[in-house]
Order: sequence, then C-alpha cells, then structure tokens
Amino acid sequence: MIFKTFKHIIKNRIKYQVDLKAYRCVSSTNDLAKENNACFNNAVFVALRQKNGRGKLNRSFYSPKGGLYLSILLHPQKNIMEMQILTQLAAVATVNAIKYVFDINTYIKWVNDIYYNNKKICGILCESSVNFESTDLEDYSVVGIGINLTAPKNGFPKDIENTAGALFNGKCSKKQKGRLAAHIVNNFFKLYNNLPNTDFLKEYKEKSILINKPVIVKTLNDTFSAVALDIDENSNLIVNKNGEIIKLNSADVSVKQCN
Ligand code: BTN
Repeated sequence: MIFKTFKHIIKNRIKYQVDLKAYRCVSSTNDLAKENNACFNNAVFVALRQKNGRGKLNRSFYSPKGGLYLSILLHPQKNIMEMQILTQLAAVATVNAIKYVFDINTYIKWVNDIYYNNKKICGILCESSVNFESTDLEDYSVVGIGINLTAPKNGFPKDIENTAGALFNGKCSKKQKGRLAAHIVNNFFKLYNNLPNTDFLKEYKEKSILINKPVIVKTLNDTFSAVALDIDENSNLIVNKNGEIIKLNSADVSVKQCN
C-alpha cells in the first residue's frame, strides 16, 4: 500500500476537527508537535518510524519500522493541563483502540506503559508548556504514544530485550496501523472533550496490572519492595511498604517476579 493511502485511512476515520500530518520517518513526533505548536490548534503527527524517539526522563524510545508513533497537540485550558490526567486518558484510549481494532486485551502499568503478555508494547509521554502570564493559545500539551506492533527483524536492543514486546508475531499492514491511529485519536478526543469528567480513571484502574501485586519501587533516591494497593483520584499510586502507606506521584514501578 502506498503511503498516501495510509494517511487517507487515518484522515477518513478521524471524527474530530484536527490537522493531520503523516510521515514515513521523523526525528520525534513529540518534537515535531512542539516545534509546530503555534501553527495548529488540535493536530496529530503520525509516523511509521522515529530516529530520535524520546521517552520518560529524556530516555530514548526505540522506534523502528513495525511500530506506530503518534503525537496529539492540544491547547488545553490551564486547569486541565495536568499531565498525569492526559497520560491516563491516553492509556485508556489506546487500550480500547487496540481492543476494538485487533480484539486484543492489553493492560496498563502505572503510569504510562501498556503491557501485553508481560512485555511493554507501548509507552506514553506527555509534555506541556504553560506560562501563567500568557494567553491560552501559547500554552500547549503534546501527548505522544509509541506502540510496538511487530518486533524488529533482529530483535530489540540488548538494554530492553527482556522488557519490550510487540503486539504481533507476524506482519501488521499499513491499513491496520491507519485504523489503529484513527481509533486512538477518536477515543482520545471523546474522553478529552468530556473533561473535567474523569470517569475513565475507573477503567484505567480496572486495566492496571499493579493493583494487589508485590512491586519494586524505584524513586529518585530509593528502591524498595511494597504491595501496590490502589490508584487514587489524583493519579497517585498507593503502596504499602511494610505497613507504611505511601502515595507515589511518580516512580518506576515493576511487578516483583516470584522465584
Ligand atoms: C516511555 O516509555 O517512557 C514513553 C515513550 C513515548 C514514546 C512516544 S512515540 C511518539 C512520541 N514521540 C516521541 O519521541 N516520544 C513519544
């Protein structure tokens, strides 16, 4: 299928007023969205490959052919610029789109990862710029979503080979990728336009793989074992560390493997 058709599939299926930019390969769709934030109101940047994909804490996000990489540019009201909410909203939108398009159940690992068969198949990175002196249009959020649909030919790089996975063993056509991109965008705007209603957090919690599991928590200064108990209305992960209840706003949390 020619690339133009990929773009048309997405464009024809998106139900909301957004500018769509589609690319075979870019440096990073998040960077592109940020660089162009003043040119668009709501826009979607989609790519089939990224040379310089970025993840949380400015880590690199491996983005070879076989994946789908997209960023949604928004100019939200200041009161909904809370990044954690957008991350969770995007996670629910993505899990539901994967279910709808491929009939595959995937699960969410707080706060920004999606898992399938115990492997990370998707990461979400929200970046916002807010200036409280400015007019609303100068403020923006970019919600970046990267999904491994098929595994790279020569496998994942050494540093992520034990944690990264893909949704399919075989191929995934551009048509399927286009349908997935459109459904993610539609699901996203359906929930986003309904804010401040955050009923989707219930679904986020239901799809979470951490609740009631023994976990390893890595914060900036500490690493400890705990049991994940809940995710509260402010998106904090609540854990029990030897009887002490701790609210985590951000941390790397993984399920403890039993030997
Ligand atoms: C993470 O796992 O830490 C988040 C990864 C986010 C990757 C996506 S891919 C589309 C967008 N462009 C980027 O450079 N990053 C995000």
